[in-house]
Amino acid sequence: MGRAFAQRFAEEGMRVVAADVQADALDRAVAELTADGHEVLGVRTDVADPAAVRDLAARTVDAFGKVHVICNNAGVEGYLDGAIWEATDRDWAWTVGVNFWSVVYGVRTFLPLILSHGEPGHVVNTASMTAVTRPANMYGITKHAVLALTETLYADLRARGLPVGATALCPGIIATNLFLGSRNRPSELRNETELPGAVAGREKRDLMHARLAEGMSPAEVADQLVAAIRADRLYALTDADWDDRIRQRAGDILDRANPLLDGVPPAAQVAEGTSPTGGSPTDGLPTGNSPTGNGKAS
Ligand SMILES: NC(=O)c1ccc[n+]([C@@H]2O[C@H](COP(=O)([O-])OP(=O)(O)OC[C@H]3O[C@@H](n4cnc5c(N)ncnc54)[C@H](O)[C@@H]3O)[C@@H](O)[C@H]2O)c1
Repeated sequence: MGRAFAQRFAEEGMRVVAADVQADALDRAVAELTADGHEVLGVRTDVADPAAVRDLAARTVDAFGKVHVICNNAGVEGYLDGAIWEATDRDWAWTVGVNFWSVVYGVRTFLPLILSHGEPGHVVNTASMTAVTRPANMYGITKHAVLALTETLYADLRARGLPVGATALCPGIIATNLFLGSRNRPSELRNETELPGAVAGREKRDLMHARLAEGMSPAEVADQLVAAIRADRLYALTDADWDDRIRQRAGDILDRANPLLDGVPPAAQVAEGTSPTGGSPTDGLPTGNSPTGNGKAS
């Protein structure tokens, strides 16, 4: 999606700094955008590394001076290889580092640059529909955290009367390489031995990669994002397919009711002494576009 955002922002006449840890994809994007006459700087950056984010900011100011809009958009599908208690320190470090800490570093490093010139600006943090529905895995945990951070940021900016907006972008199912995220997992954060659930985890990733291919185009999300920034919208949900699940979760909380879990037989969820673990391999993963699909992984 970042590639589409860069293009859309450039088409709006903005000068763009594109950052990504994957050098070949970054170089290709910068070359294509430059060939189209856009002013784009590419900086290879591991956004889970605060020093690298500080370097990115310095390079940005050197190249273009003022910063007005930042998009904290990098993300990985993260740990999908078993129950949440089976995840290793490395699984947590990789998933939370890219999906959550990068947003903290991005806000902490770039927001002061926006505030320093006093002109209007905007912060976009890419969350997910899993941030507004019941989370089903580590990815969902990180996206809830990104949403909470963005809501807090929004309130802090408003309370101080600052001319900077904040948007939590919540995409549904978008045709990207999200479920190939392990391609960029650093070697020092890979598990030394494969977890028992690794094979099932790969199957989930393959299933989801195919599922995302049927999704909305990144260009359409980019159009929606520009509209959300212009409208100064905090919550930017890309579609209404998840509304039932948003209501369901809020309703469960207000009703003090336990959620009915996908893939777990109802009897196993209510009978005393049974453990509502396991579920189908696709529990929490989208299976259809309809509002009643099991879409909880984006
Ligand atoms: N595709 C979807 O259906 C969907 C739905 C909801 C939310 N999202 C979110 O959208 C954002 C963009 O993901 P996408 O769907 O375009 O997937 P993608 O894999 O195509 O793009 C993610 C990008 O993040 C980069 N990245 C990974 N680790 C990084 C790191 N440490 N430092 C810098 N860059 C890093 C990757 O190289 C890649 O270019 C993510 O935050 C993702 O969680 C995607």
